[in-house]
Amino acid sequence: MNVQAYVVRDEQRPPDNALLQVVQRGLRSQPKRLPSWLFYDERGSALFEEICEQPEYYLTRAEIALLGEHAGDISEVLGPDVRLVEYGSGHAIKTRLLLEHLVTPVAWVPVEISSEPLRLGMERMGQHFPELPIQPLSVDFTRPLRLPVPPRAPRRTVLYFPGSTIGNFDEREAAQLLRKMRGEMGDNGGILVGVDLKKDRATIEAAYNDSAGVTAAFTLNMLVRLNRELGCNFDISAFRHRARYNAMVGRIETHIVSNREQRVRVGRLQVLFREDEAMLVEYSCKYSLEDFAALAAMAGLTVQHVWTDPAGLFSLQHLTRSNAG
Ligand code: AVI
Repeated sequence: MNVQAYVVRDEQRPPDNALLQVVQRGLRSQPKRLPSWLFYDERGSALFEEICEQPEYYLTRAEIALLGEHAGDISEVLGPDVRLVEYGSGHAIKTRLLLEHLVTPVAWVPVEISSEPLRLGMERMGQHFPELPIQPLSVDFTRPLRLPVPPRAPRRTVLYFPGSTIGNFDEREAAQLLRKMRGEMGDNGGILVGVDLKKDRATIEAAYNDSAGVTAAFTLNMLVRLNRELGCNFDISAFRHRARYNAMVGRIETHIVSNREQRVRVGRLQVLFREDEAMLVEYSCKYSLEDFAALAAMAGLTVQHVWTDPAGLFSLQHLTRSNAG
């Protein structure tokens, strides 16, 4: 069963001729780093779906359990005649659970830059909700959105951002994104955002180091992609995946680590990797309820409601504009 569609994909992907520059810049910087959107080529997206089914990756199951338990209450809080704008193309079960409970939703607006996931998401949702107006937006959700004219006046626009994707942005970027969303939802609108919660190190680290090695394959697939798309010569077996929880800042930091000293061709650049040199490829930030309320406040937002799954691992939070924000 496909419990999770695509989440981050290629949203921030530059045109192909700029890809080389992005990668070269990242590999020239000290310490080296590459953007996490590079994970999501076709194979990376498929591997991410597999990650969601690993026993250690609690996030997806917890979010689905949360919706199973609270979707009715969430829909009551949001009220009737909601226009649901989803950052991403529809997370099969999650979006369905929510839409099933919403009273007379005005429209569902999936915002998704990659055309195939967008098409699939629309097809799936159209089958389940044949009466629901679907107004796709094929754009990068990190950029300012121009929402389509709704088929009738909504009581409220709700921006739905599930899956803890907010955690893949650092604090400054996350606050900027929330600030942008605040503008898009209007005075009476809201944000419904999935936020993974801080918990013990062992549980979090296991989620990013599954024993079947799917996350490791997902991480290293980034190098496979660079070999294919940019003609690099990364020897995949000479690198390893490393995901550690930095409890000081509350985030998983994922690195690709070089097993030995080596040189790699990246366009005309020869990049030297020292033995055990680590290249940062992803943050997955975890929040306490207080942390997230503070982040929301930085963006002029107030947390109105928090729902969690029965085990208290994951939260869905409803944010509205702060009066003074
Ligand atoms: C998409 N995002 C919320 C995932 C996460 O948990 O940070 C991406 C991921 N990376 C490794 N495993 C999952």
